[in-house]
Amino acid sequence: MKVIVATNNQTASRHVATMITNQLSRKPNSAFLLPTGSTPLKLYQLLQEKVGSGKTSFSLIKTFNLDEYLGLSPENPQSYHRFMWDNFFSHIDIKRSNVKIPSGNPKNAASYCKKYEQTIDKAKVDLAILGLGTNGHIGFNEPGTDPDSITHIADLTPSTIKANARFFKSKKEVPTQAITVGLKTILKSKKIIVMAFGKSKAQAVHDTLEKTPSPKTPASVLQKHKNITFVLDQAAASKLTKTSFYPPVLSGIRLYSKLNLPTNKKIVFFSPHPDDAAISAGALLNSLSANNEVYELIVTTGHRAVINGGTTQNRIKIREKEVQKESFLLGTKCITLRCHFYDNNQNLPEKDLKKIRSLMKKIKPNIAFVPHKLDPHPTHATTRTMALAALPHHTSLWSFETPWSLFSHKKFNAAFEFSDKLMKTKLRSIRCHKSQLARTSFDQAALSIASFRRITLAEQLFSELGKQSLETKPYLELFNISEW
Ligand code: F6R
Repeated sequence: MKVIVATNNQTASRHVATMITNQLSRKPNSAFLLPTGSTPLKLYQLLQEKVGSGKTSFSLIKTFNLDEYLGLSPENPQSYHRFMWDNFFSHIDIKRSNVKIPSGNPKNAASYCKKYEQTIDKAKVDLAILGLGTNGHIGFNEPGTDPDSITHIADLTPSTIKANARFFKSKKEVPTQAITVGLKTILKSKKIIVMAFGKSKAQAVHDTLEKTPSPKTPASVLQKHKNITFVLDQAAASKLTKTSFYPPVLSGIRLYSKLNLPTNKKIVFFSPHPDDAAISAGALLNSLSANNEVYELIVTTGHRAVINGGTTQNRIKIREKEVQKESFLLGTKCITLRCHFYDNNQNLPEKDLKKIRSLMKKIKPNIAFVPHKLDPHPTHATTRTMALAALPHHTSLWSFETPWSLFSHKKFNAAFEFSDKLMKTKLRSIRCHKSQLARTSFDQAALSIASFRRITLAEQLFSELGKQSLETKPYLELFNISEW
Protein backbone atom coordinates (compact mmCIF):
# COMPACT_ATOMS: atom_id res chain seq x y z
CA MET A 1 0.00 0.00 0.00
CA LYS A 2 1.45 3.33 -1.00
CA VAL A 3 0.18 6.68 0.27
CA ILE A 4 1.02 9.77 -1.78
CA VAL A 5 0.40 13.11 -0.09
CA ALA A 6 0.41 16.35 -2.05
CA THR A 7 -0.05 19.90 -0.79
CA ASN A 8 -3.29 20.28 -2.72
CA ASN A 9 -5.94 18.59 -4.83
CA GLN A 10 -4.46 19.98 -8.05
CA THR A 11 -1.02 18.41 -7.59
CA ALA A 12 -2.58 15.18 -6.32
CA SER A 13 -4.85 14.98 -9.37
CA ARG A 14 -1.86 15.58 -11.65
CA HIS A 15 -0.13 12.62 -10.06
CA VAL A 16 -3.16 10.42 -10.74
CA ALA A 17 -3.43 11.73 -14.32
CA THR A 18 0.16 10.61 -14.88
CA MET A 19 -0.55 7.18 -13.38
CA ILE A 20 -3.44 6.83 -15.82
CA THR A 21 -1.46 7.92 -18.87
CA ASN A 22 1.34 5.55 -17.85
CA GLN A 23 -1.22 2.76 -17.67
CA LEU A 24 -2.47 3.73 -21.15
CA SER A 25 0.99 3.68 -22.65
CA ARG A 26 1.58 0.24 -21.17
CA LYS A 27 -1.83 -1.04 -22.28
CA PRO A 28 -3.86 1.21 -24.61
CA ASN A 29 -6.92 -1.06 -24.37
CA SER A 30 -7.07 -1.04 -20.57
CA ALA A 31 -10.35 -1.46 -18.70
CA PHE A 32 -11.15 1.12 -16.01
CA LEU A 33 -13.62 1.41 -13.14
CA LEU A 34 -14.54 5.08 -12.71
CA PRO A 35 -16.16 7.23 -10.02
CA THR A 36 -18.31 10.35 -10.10
CA GLY A 37 -18.50 13.06 -7.43
CA SER A 38 -16.44 16.14 -6.73
CA THR A 39 -13.18 14.24 -6.07
CA PRO A 40 -12.34 13.23 -9.68
CA LEU A 41 -13.42 16.52 -11.31
CA LYS A 42 -9.92 18.00 -11.53
CA LEU A 43 -8.56 14.67 -12.75
CA TYR A 44 -11.13 14.47 -15.54
CA GLN A 45 -10.26 18.01 -16.58
CA LEU A 46 -6.52 17.23 -16.66
CA LEU A 47 -7.13 14.10 -18.71
CA GLN A 48 -9.20 16.09 -21.21
CA GLU A 49 -6.26 18.49 -21.59
CA LYS A 50 -3.90 15.57 -22.18
CA VAL A 51 -6.18 14.15 -24.89
CA GLY A 52 -6.61 17.65 -26.37
CA SER A 53 -2.86 18.12 -26.68
CA GLY A 54 -2.39 14.67 -28.19
CA LYS A 55 -0.43 13.32 -25.19
CA THR A 56 -2.75 10.39 -24.62
CA SER A 57 -5.71 8.62 -26.16
CA PHE A 58 -8.71 6.84 -24.71
CA SER A 59 -9.82 5.47 -28.09
CA LEU A 60 -9.22 1.85 -27.15
CA ILE A 61 -10.18 1.80 -23.48
CA LYS A 62 -13.28 0.30 -21.85
CA THR A 63 -14.82 2.02 -18.84
CA PHE A 64 -17.28 0.86 -16.21
CA ASN A 65 -18.82 3.26 -13.77
CA LEU A 66 -19.06 2.27 -10.14
CA ASP A 67 -22.64 3.30 -9.57
CA GLU A 68 -25.85 5.12 -10.53
CA TYR A 69 -28.84 6.40 -8.58
CA LEU A 70 -31.89 4.19 -8.86
CA GLY A 71 -34.85 5.96 -10.44
CA LEU A 72 -32.92 8.56 -12.45
CA SER A 73 -32.97 8.44 -16.24
CA PRO A 74 -29.70 8.99 -18.15
CA GLU A 75 -30.92 12.46 -19.16
CA ASN A 76 -31.58 13.56 -15.59
CA PRO A 77 -29.07 16.34 -14.76
CA GLN A 78 -28.24 14.65 -11.42
CA SER A 79 -27.71 11.22 -12.93
CA TYR A 80 -24.21 9.80 -13.03
CA HIS A 81 -24.71 9.22 -16.77
CA ARG A 82 -25.02 12.95 -17.28
CA PHE A 83 -22.16 13.63 -14.88
CA MET A 84 -19.78 11.38 -16.80
CA TRP A 85 -20.71 12.66 -20.25
CA ASP A 86 -20.74 16.32 -19.22
CA ASN A 87 -17.50 16.22 -17.24
CA PHE A 88 -15.45 13.68 -19.14
CA PHE A 89 -16.61 11.41 -21.93
CA SER A 90 -17.90 14.13 -24.28
CA HIS A 91 -14.46 15.77 -24.22
CA ILE A 92 -12.26 12.75 -24.91
CA ASP A 93 -11.85 10.32 -27.79
CA ILE A 94 -13.64 7.38 -26.14
CA LYS A 95 -15.95 5.12 -28.16
CA ARG A 96 -19.56 5.36 -26.94
CA SER A 97 -19.92 1.57 -27.14
CA ASN A 98 -16.99 1.16 -24.75
CA VAL A 99 -18.68 3.16 -21.97
CA LYS A 100 -20.73 1.23 -19.43
CA ILE A 101 -22.66 2.99 -16.67
CA PRO A 102 -25.20 1.07 -14.57
CA SER A 103 -28.79 1.78 -15.60
CA GLY A 104 -30.85 3.83 -13.15
CA ASN A 105 -34.03 2.16 -14.38
CA PRO A 106 -33.34 -1.54 -14.92
CA LYS A 107 -36.44 -3.63 -15.68
CA ASN A 108 -35.35 -6.53 -13.54
CA ALA A 109 -32.84 -5.18 -11.04
CA ALA A 110 -31.54 -8.56 -9.86
CA SER A 111 -30.78 -9.93 -13.31
CA TYR A 112 -29.42 -6.54 -14.45
CA CYS A 113 -26.94 -6.50 -11.54
CA LYS A 114 -25.83 -10.03 -12.37
CA LYS A 115 -25.22 -9.07 -16.01
CA TYR A 116 -23.29 -5.90 -15.12
CA GLU A 117 -21.05 -7.94 -12.82
CA GLN A 118 -20.45 -10.54 -15.56
CA THR A 119 -19.48 -7.86 -18.09
CA ILE A 120 -16.97 -6.36 -15.64
CA ASP A 121 -15.62 -9.80 -14.86
CA LYS A 122 -15.11 -10.52 -18.52
CA ALA A 123 -13.34 -7.23 -19.19
CA LYS A 124 -10.94 -7.77 -16.23
CA VAL A 125 -10.47 -4.28 -14.82
CA ASP A 126 -6.87 -3.08 -15.02
CA LEU A 127 -7.30 0.06 -12.94
CA ALA A 128 -10.04 1.17 -10.56
CA ILE A 129 -10.17 4.84 -9.60
CA LEU A 130 -12.15 5.45 -6.42
CA GLY A 131 -13.40 8.37 -4.38
CA LEU A 132 -14.10 7.96 -0.68
CA GLY A 133 -17.33 8.91 1.09
CA THR A 134 -17.16 10.79 4.39
CA ASN A 135 -18.64 7.63 5.96
CA GLY A 136 -15.97 5.43 4.36
CA HIS A 137 -18.07 4.20 1.44
CA ILE A 138 -16.63 3.36 -1.98
CA GLY A 139 -19.04 3.26 -4.89
CA PHE A 140 -22.29 3.12 -2.91
CA ASN A 141 -21.05 0.35 -0.64
CA GLU A 142 -22.33 1.88 2.55
CA PRO A 143 -21.25 0.97 6.12
CA GLY A 144 -22.36 -2.58 6.89
CA THR A 145 -21.91 -3.84 3.31
CA ASP A 146 -20.72 -7.44 3.04
CA PRO A 147 -17.02 -7.50 1.98
CA ASP A 148 -18.00 -10.30 -0.45
CA SER A 149 -20.68 -8.20 -2.16
CA ILE A 150 -20.88 -7.97 -5.96
CA THR A 151 -23.04 -5.59 -8.03
CA HIS A 152 -26.24 -4.92 -6.06
CA ILE A 153 -28.96 -2.46 -5.13
CA ALA A 154 -27.92 -0.43 -2.10
CA ASP A 155 -29.98 1.62 0.35
CA LEU A 156 -28.26 4.96 0.87
CA THR A 157 -27.54 5.93 4.47
CA PRO A 158 -28.82 9.23 5.87
CA SER A 159 -25.21 10.54 5.95
CA THR A 160 -24.73 9.87 2.20
CA ILE A 161 -28.12 11.42 1.38
CA LYS A 162 -27.09 14.48 3.38
CA ALA A 163 -23.61 14.65 1.76
CA ASN A 164 -25.04 14.35 -1.77
CA ALA A 165 -27.94 16.76 -1.22
CA ARG A 166 -25.57 19.52 -2.39
CA PHE A 167 -26.09 18.35 -5.98
CA PHE A 168 -29.93 18.41 -5.75
CA LYS A 169 -32.48 21.20 -5.18
CA SER A 170 -33.36 19.71 -1.79
CA LYS A 171 -32.55 16.71 0.39
CA LYS A 172 -35.96 15.25 -0.47
CA GLU A 173 -34.97 14.87 -4.12
CA VAL A 174 -31.94 12.70 -3.39
CA PRO A 175 -32.75 9.11 -4.41
CA THR A 176 -32.69 6.69 -1.50
CA GLN A 177 -31.32 3.74 -3.46
CA ALA A 178 -28.56 3.15 -5.97
CA ILE A 179 -27.09 0.39 -8.05
CA THR A 180 -23.43 -0.16 -7.23
CA VAL A 181 -20.64 -2.59 -7.97
CA GLY A 182 -19.73 -4.51 -4.81
CA LEU A 183 -16.63 -4.53 -2.62
CA LYS A 184 -15.59 -7.85 -4.11
CA THR A 185 -16.02 -6.43 -7.63
CA ILE A 186 -13.68 -3.56 -6.75
CA LEU A 187 -11.11 -5.83 -5.10
CA LYS A 188 -10.87 -7.93 -8.28
CA SER A 189 -9.31 -4.93 -10.12
CA LYS A 190 -5.63 -5.44 -10.87
CA LYS A 191 -4.69 -2.01 -9.58
CA ILE A 192 -6.59 0.52 -7.45
CA ILE A 193 -6.14 4.24 -6.86
CA VAL A 194 -8.16 5.90 -4.09
CA MET A 195 -8.36 9.68 -4.10
CA ALA A 196 -9.53 11.75 -1.12
CA PHE A 197 -9.34 15.50 -0.66
CA GLY A 198 -10.34 17.92 2.08
CA LYS A 199 -10.75 17.92 5.82
CA SER A 200 -14.17 16.25 5.64
CA LYS A 201 -12.44 13.04 4.42
CA ALA A 202 -9.72 12.96 7.10
CA GLN A 203 -11.59 10.65 9.50
CA ALA A 204 -12.65 8.24 6.75
CA VAL A 205 -9.06 8.15 5.44
CA HIS A 206 -7.79 7.40 8.93
CA ASP A 207 -10.36 4.65 9.53
CA THR A 208 -9.66 3.14 6.09
CA LEU A 209 -5.90 3.03 6.44
CA GLU A 210 -5.07 2.78 10.11
CA LYS A 211 -7.92 0.84 11.76
CA THR A 212 -8.49 -2.91 11.70
CA PRO A 213 -10.67 -3.60 8.63
CA SER A 214 -14.36 -3.62 9.54
CA PRO A 215 -17.70 -3.28 7.68
CA LYS A 216 -18.17 -0.02 9.64
CA THR A 217 -15.69 1.49 7.18
CA PRO A 218 -16.31 -0.34 3.87
CA ALA A 219 -13.13 1.06 2.27
CA SER A 220 -11.01 -0.63 4.94
CA VAL A 221 -11.33 -3.91 2.94
CA LEU A 222 -8.91 -2.27 0.51
CA GLN A 223 -6.08 -2.86 2.99
CA LYS A 224 -5.80 -6.39 1.68
CA HIS A 225 -5.36 -5.39 -1.98
CA LYS A 226 -1.83 -6.03 -3.30
CA ASN A 227 -1.53 -3.06 -5.64
CA ILE A 228 -3.21 -0.01 -4.21
CA THR A 229 -2.22 3.65 -4.01
CA PHE A 230 -3.98 6.32 -1.96
CA VAL A 231 -3.53 9.84 -3.32
CA LEU A 232 -4.43 12.49 -0.75
CA ASP A 233 -4.14 16.18 -0.17
CA GLN A 234 -2.72 17.57 3.05
CA ALA A 235 -6.12 18.01 4.71
CA ALA A 236 -7.34 14.48 3.98
CA ALA A 237 -4.07 13.04 5.34
CA SER A 238 -4.18 15.15 8.51
CA LYS A 239 -5.41 12.39 10.83
CA LEU A 240 -2.91 9.73 9.76
CA THR A 241 -0.32 8.96 12.41
CA LYS A 242 1.22 5.61 11.49
CA THR A 243 1.44 5.79 7.71
CA SER A 244 4.56 6.72 5.69
CA PHE A 245 3.93 9.23 2.95
CA TYR A 246 5.45 9.47 -0.53
CA PRO A 247 5.64 12.58 -2.71
CA PRO A 248 3.59 13.05 -5.86
CA VAL A 249 5.56 12.72 -9.08
CA LEU A 250 4.99 15.37 -11.75
CA SER A 251 6.62 14.75 -15.11
CA GLY A 252 9.19 12.46 -13.52
CA ILE A 253 10.01 14.91 -10.68
CA ARG A 254 9.23 13.89 -7.10
CA LEU A 255 7.72 16.90 -5.43
CA TYR A 256 8.73 16.80 -1.79
CA SER A 257 7.34 19.19 0.79
CA LYS A 258 7.37 19.12 4.58
CA LEU A 259 4.36 16.77 4.28
CA ASN A 260 5.88 13.79 2.56
CA LEU A 261 9.52 13.50 3.61
CA PRO A 262 11.11 10.23 4.67
CA THR A 263 10.78 9.50 8.39
CA ASN A 264 12.65 7.34 10.91
CA LYS A 265 15.68 7.05 8.67
CA LYS A 266 19.38 7.40 9.28
CA ILE A 267 20.68 10.06 6.97
CA VAL A 268 24.25 11.17 6.25
CA PHE A 269 25.15 14.33 4.37
CA PHE A 270 28.67 14.33 2.92
CA SER A 271 29.54 18.01 3.03
CA PRO A 272 32.86 18.47 1.17
CA HIS A 273 33.47 21.80 2.90
CA PRO A 274 31.91 22.91 6.18
CA ASP A 275 29.33 25.21 4.54
CA ASP A 276 28.19 23.06 1.57
CA ALA A 277 25.38 21.33 3.47
CA ALA A 278 23.72 24.58 4.54
CA ILE A 279 24.09 26.19 1.11
CA SER A 280 22.87 23.21 -0.92
CA ALA A 281 20.26 21.67 1.34
CA GLY A 282 19.86 23.71 4.53
CA ALA A 283 16.07 23.83 4.19
CA LEU A 284 15.68 20.11 3.54
CA LEU A 285 18.13 19.09 6.26
CA ASN A 286 16.32 21.24 8.81
CA SER A 287 12.99 19.61 7.87
CA LEU A 288 14.42 16.08 7.79
CA SER A 289 16.01 16.49 11.20
CA ALA A 290 12.54 16.73 12.79
CA ASN A 291 11.78 13.03 12.15
CA ASN A 292 15.09 11.40 11.24
CA GLU A 293 18.60 11.00 12.60
CA VAL A 294 20.60 13.33 10.36
CA TYR A 295 24.41 13.45 10.40
CA GLU A 296 26.36 16.23 8.75
CA LEU A 297 29.72 14.72 7.87
CA ILE A 298 32.15 17.58 7.37
CA VAL A 299 34.62 15.93 5.05
CA THR A 300 37.44 18.50 4.96
CA THR A 301 38.42 21.37 7.21
CA GLY A 302 38.24 23.89 4.37
CA HIS A 303 40.92 25.92 6.13
CA ARG A 304 42.37 27.33 2.90
CA ALA A 305 39.23 29.41 2.37
CA VAL A 306 39.66 31.49 5.54
CA ILE A 307 41.32 34.80 4.82
CA ASN A 308 43.27 36.47 7.60
CA GLY A 309 42.72 33.49 9.90
CA GLY A 310 46.26 33.10 11.18
CA THR A 311 47.79 29.62 11.44
CA THR A 312 46.28 26.55 9.78
CA GLN A 313 45.22 25.25 13.19
CA ASN A 314 43.49 28.51 13.93
CA ARG A 315 41.68 28.54 10.59
CA ILE A 316 40.51 24.97 11.15
CA LYS A 317 39.21 26.00 14.56
CA ILE A 318 37.29 28.93 13.04
CA ARG A 319 35.58 26.77 10.42
CA GLU A 320 34.74 23.93 12.78
CA LYS A 321 33.26 26.30 15.33
CA GLU A 322 31.11 27.86 12.60
CA VAL A 323 29.81 24.51 11.37
CA GLN A 324 29.02 23.30 14.92
CA LYS A 325 26.84 26.36 15.37
CA GLU A 326 25.16 25.85 11.98
CA SER A 327 24.49 22.16 12.60
CA PHE A 328 22.94 22.96 15.99
CA LEU A 329 20.63 25.41 14.24
CA LEU A 330 19.64 22.87 11.56
CA GLY A 331 19.11 20.12 14.14
CA THR A 332 21.72 17.77 12.69
CA LYS A 333 24.57 15.87 14.34
CA CYS A 334 27.87 17.25 13.16
CA ILE A 335 30.94 15.04 12.68
CA THR A 336 34.15 16.69 11.46
CA LEU A 337 36.23 14.17 9.51
CA ARG A 338 39.31 16.20 8.59
CA CYS A 339 40.04 13.96 5.60
CA HIS A 340 43.64 14.01 4.48
CA PHE A 341 42.99 14.17 0.73
CA TYR A 342 42.29 17.91 1.10
CA ASP A 343 45.97 18.56 1.86
CA ASN A 344 47.15 15.69 -0.32
CA ASN A 345 46.36 17.01 -3.83
CA GLN A 346 43.04 15.11 -3.84
CA ASN A 347 44.82 11.76 -3.65
CA LEU A 348 42.59 9.63 -1.50
CA PRO A 349 44.68 7.80 1.08
CA GLU A 350 43.54 4.43 2.45
CA LYS A 351 43.31 5.91 5.95
CA ASP A 352 40.52 8.31 4.82
CA LEU A 353 38.56 5.46 3.27
CA LYS A 354 39.02 3.26 6.31
CA LYS A 355 37.70 5.97 8.57
CA ILE A 356 34.59 6.57 6.45
CA ARG A 357 33.92 2.84 6.02
CA SER A 358 33.99 2.23 9.74
CA LEU A 359 31.75 5.25 10.33
CA MET A 360 29.24 3.93 7.77
CA LYS A 361 29.29 0.54 9.50
CA LYS A 362 28.42 2.27 12.74
CA ILE A 363 25.71 4.61 11.39
CA LYS A 364 24.23 2.23 8.76
CA PRO A 365 22.64 5.04 6.75
CA ASN A 366 19.45 4.56 4.71
CA ILE A 367 19.98 7.80 2.78
CA ALA A 368 23.23 9.53 1.81
CA PHE A 369 23.62 12.98 0.28
CA VAL A 370 26.63 13.37 -2.02
CA PRO A 371 27.80 15.99 -4.57
CA HIS A 372 26.32 15.22 -7.99
CA LYS A 373 28.15 13.19 -10.61
CA LEU A 374 29.21 16.11 -12.80
CA ASP A 375 30.31 18.47 -10.03
CA PRO A 376 33.83 19.39 -11.21
CA HIS A 377 35.09 20.96 -7.98
CA PRO A 378 38.02 18.70 -7.03
CA THR A 379 37.11 18.45 -3.32
CA HIS A 380 33.47 17.73 -4.19
CA ALA A 381 34.43 15.09 -6.76
CA THR A 382 36.80 13.32 -4.34
CA THR A 383 34.15 13.46 -1.63
CA ARG A 384 31.71 11.70 -3.96
CA THR A 385 34.24 9.04 -4.94
CA MET A 386 35.07 8.41 -1.30
CA ALA A 387 31.41 8.27 -0.23
CA LEU A 388 30.47 5.83 -2.99
CA ALA A 389 33.40 3.60 -2.12
CA ALA A 390 32.33 3.48 1.52
CA LEU A 391 28.52 3.37 1.40
CA PRO A 392 26.58 0.11 1.59
CA HIS A 393 24.94 -0.64 -1.78
CA HIS A 394 21.33 -0.42 -0.63
CA THR A 395 21.73 3.22 0.49
CA SER A 396 19.49 5.62 -1.36
CA LEU A 397 21.71 8.29 -2.96
CA TRP A 398 20.54 11.90 -3.05
CA SER A 399 22.94 13.94 -5.19
CA PHE A 400 22.88 17.68 -4.52
CA GLU A 401 23.90 20.74 -6.51
CA THR A 402 26.16 23.57 -5.36
CA PRO A 403 26.55 27.16 -6.58
CA TRP A 404 29.71 26.03 -8.40
CA SER A 405 27.93 23.32 -10.29
CA LEU A 406 24.19 23.51 -10.81
CA PHE A 407 22.30 20.58 -12.28
CA SER A 408 21.90 20.94 -16.03
CA HIS A 409 18.51 20.49 -17.70
CA LYS A 410 16.68 17.33 -16.54
CA LYS A 411 19.67 16.05 -14.55
CA PHE A 412 17.59 16.08 -11.37
CA ASN A 413 14.47 14.15 -10.40
CA ALA A 414 13.43 15.55 -7.02
CA ALA A 415 12.55 18.99 -5.69
CA PHE A 416 11.92 20.09 -2.12
CA GLU A 417 9.54 23.05 -1.95
CA PHE A 418 9.78 25.41 1.00
CA SER A 419 8.43 28.60 2.50
CA ASP A 420 9.81 32.03 3.31
CA LYS A 421 10.02 31.01 6.95
CA LEU A 422 12.21 28.04 6.17
CA MET A 423 14.31 30.17 3.84
CA LYS A 424 15.02 32.42 6.82
CA THR A 425 16.33 29.44 8.79
CA LYS A 426 18.43 28.35 5.82
CA LEU A 427 19.93 31.83 5.50
CA ARG A 428 20.69 31.94 9.22
CA SER A 429 22.45 28.60 8.92
CA ILE A 430 24.58 29.84 6.01
CA ARG A 431 25.39 33.01 7.94
CA CYS A 432 26.90 30.92 10.73
CA HIS A 433 29.84 30.56 8.31
CA LYS A 434 31.02 34.13 8.86
CA SER A 435 34.53 33.46 7.56
CA GLN A 436 33.02 32.53 4.18
CA LEU A 437 30.54 35.37 3.93
CA ALA A 438 33.47 37.69 4.44
CA ARG A 439 34.66 36.46 1.02
CA THR A 440 31.45 35.80 -0.93
CA SER A 441 27.73 36.36 -0.35
CA PHE A 442 26.80 32.68 -0.25
CA ASP A 443 23.54 33.56 1.48
CA GLN A 444 22.51 35.68 -1.51
CA ALA A 445 23.63 32.95 -3.89
CA ALA A 446 21.54 30.31 -2.08
CA LEU A 447 18.49 32.58 -1.99
CA SER A 448 18.79 33.34 -5.70
CA ILE A 449 19.30 29.71 -6.68
CA ALA A 450 16.27 28.53 -4.67
CA SER A 451 14.07 31.17 -6.25
CA PHE A 452 15.55 30.61 -9.74
CA ARG A 453 14.85 26.88 -9.34
CA ARG A 454 11.21 27.56 -8.48
CA ILE A 455 10.77 29.76 -11.54
CA THR A 456 12.57 27.54 -14.01
CA LEU A 457 11.03 24.28 -12.82
CA ALA A 458 7.58 25.82 -13.29
CA GLU A 459 8.63 26.73 -16.83
CA GLN A 460 10.03 23.24 -17.50
CA LEU A 461 6.83 21.62 -16.27
CA PHE A 462 4.68 24.14 -18.16
CA SER A 463 5.41 22.50 -21.48
CA GLU A 464 4.43 19.13 -20.03
CA LEU A 465 1.66 20.04 -17.61
CA GLY A 466 0.02 22.85 -19.54
CA LYS A 467 -1.86 25.91 -18.40
CA GLN A 468 -1.66 25.91 -14.61
CA SER A 469 1.85 24.61 -14.41
CA LEU A 470 3.06 24.39 -10.82
CA GLU A 471 1.73 25.71 -7.57
CA THR A 472 4.41 25.37 -4.92
CA LYS A 473 6.03 27.37 -2.17
CA PRO A 474 8.41 30.13 -3.37
CA TYR A 475 11.66 28.17 -3.12
CA LEU A 476 13.06 24.84 -4.24
CA GLU A 477 16.16 22.80 -3.51
CA LEU A 478 16.88 20.19 -6.18
CA PHE A 479 18.24 16.66 -5.92
CA ASN A 480 18.84 13.63 -8.06
CA ILE A 481 17.80 10.43 -6.33
CA SER A 482 19.32 7.35 -7.81
CA GLU A 483 16.86 4.80 -6.50
CA TRP A 484 13.30 4.90 -5.31
C1 F6R B 1 -19.49 7.93 -6.84
C2 F6R B 1 -18.76 7.13 -5.85
C3 F6R B 1 -18.73 7.61 -4.43
C4 F6R B 1 -17.94 8.87 -4.28
C5 F6R B 1 -17.90 9.34 -2.84
C6 F6R B 1 -17.16 10.65 -2.67
O1 F6R B 1 -19.41 7.36 -8.10
O2 F6R B 1 -18.21 6.15 -6.17
O3 F6R B 1 -18.20 6.59 -3.64
O4 F6R B 1 -16.63 8.65 -4.73
O5 F6R B 1 -19.21 9.52 -2.37
O6 F6R B 1 -17.88 11.68 -3.27
P1 F6R B 1 -17.23 13.13 -3.50
O7 F6R B 1 -16.10 12.93 -4.42
O8 F6R B 1 -18.31 13.96 -4.12
O9 F6R B 1 -16.81 13.61 -2.16
